[in-house]
Amino acid sequence: MLVYEILDKKRKAQVLTDEEISFMVDSYTKGEVPDYQMAAFLMAVAMGGMDDAETAALTKCMVKSGEMADLSSIRGVKVDKHSSGGVGDKTSPVVGAIVAACGVPVAKMSGRALGFSGGTLDKLESIPGYTTTIGKERFFEIVNSVGVSIIGQTGNLAPADKKIYALRDVTATVESIPLIASSIMSKKIAGGADAVLLDVKVGNGAFMKDEKSAADLARCMVAIGKSFGKETVALLTQMNQPLGWNVGTALEIAEMIGILKNEVHGDVRELCLLLAANMLYLAGKGSMEECDAMAGQALADGKAFEKFRAMVQAQGGDVSVVDEPSLFPQAKYIEPCRARQAGYIQSFQTDQVGMAALVLGAGRETKDASIDHAAGIRLCVKQGDHVEEGSVLAYLHTSDEGRLARGQALMKDAISIGADKPEPLLLVYKRIPDDG
Ligand code: URA
Repeated sequence: MLVYEILDKKRKAQVLTDEEISFMVDSYTKGEVPDYQMAAFLMAVAMGGMDDAETAALTKCMVKSGEMADLSSIRGVKVDKHSSGGVGDKTSPVVGAIVAACGVPVAKMSGRALGFSGGTLDKLESIPGYTTTIGKERFFEIVNSVGVSIIGQTGNLAPADKKIYALRDVTATVESIPLIASSIMSKKIAGGADAVLLDVKVGNGAFMKDEKSAADLARCMVAIGKSFGKETVALLTQMNQPLGWNVGTALEIAEMIGILKNEVHGDVRELCLLLAANMLYLAGKGSMEECDAMAGQALADGKAFEKFRAMVQAQGGDVSVVDEPSLFPQAKYIEPCRARQAGYIQSFQTDQVGMAALVLGAGRETKDASIDHAAGIRLCVKQGDHVEEGSVLAYLHTSDEGRLARGQALMKDAISIGADKPEPLLLVYKRIPDDG
């Protein structure tokens, strides 16, 4: 088989066979195909697309390139959850705790921040002592005893994706539905869960900016899940404003604890309940109505909070900050960002809010930079709220005074104000498949 012929075929947007795709991926992973040929292949796929069968074949090769996590020592149906990434998205630990409180085990491997979007691992590591790098045996032990554990990726899952993703990152081929879908799903399939819930974010704080492309991505991932015999459901959810009030690591954990203690209400809480109900449904716990009620009960009666607290304790975290989040280290500098005119909040440039949090220290500007866990943004408004000139729109938190000016510059244009009250934003656009 000649790489040249495969590239020529894909350039003409022809359908590749499983063997051709497998040859390309396997040879590249082994170092037998150079970067320039793989880059040409990825660009041809990004421009010409792939059908469902080709995308499933690509996913299969990436899964086969590494280990498959064996979750058989965890009792019960294992449902994984994945968010495509957004700003202020702190749902995973809350959802994990609710689902565990309803008797469904949650063995979750999460990721770190990527660009303007935050990462669950970085957030959990703001809890002093919490470790995300425990061995497999301890991970399984915690899931079996507590019901939920959230750690970083263990093992060598989908190494082909790792190598291909790094090349996509520098060849402008990240934004391709078959490439994103196969990349995400290869890690989910290799992660070993029985079913998968996908939270596909839509909007200016997400990688998918509009509903149509998010729905296309969701359908593609659901089809891949199905081709592997894993029940897969996707929810398309709002990311045209930050989720909740806080953006940052400890700031988001504090908000999460507020939700678990039934002190914080609003969009994140609602989304957490919806995601948890869908996970329970996928685990076979009942109808959607029954699962909704179960999730609501576990949050309201404090069982979900107890699960989260027990997980933190089992993973070495200091539970005193869970009991009293004001004990989190506080930022040395807290500065307001004020409205320059009166009116209604029209819209957010959500990725810019994420970038502002990042430059204040809540994310990494270089690969090896460390995170300032006290840094971030505390929003005081949501789309549709009315403000006066000079009202505080947000507070900027940082431990480094030198970062405030850049944070303010980004926040200055991130929130627009106008005379007319805008239509409220939907929290969820749709569910794929629409059977729940
Ligand atoms: N996240 C992934 O894991 N892969 C992509 O291609 C995009 C986002």
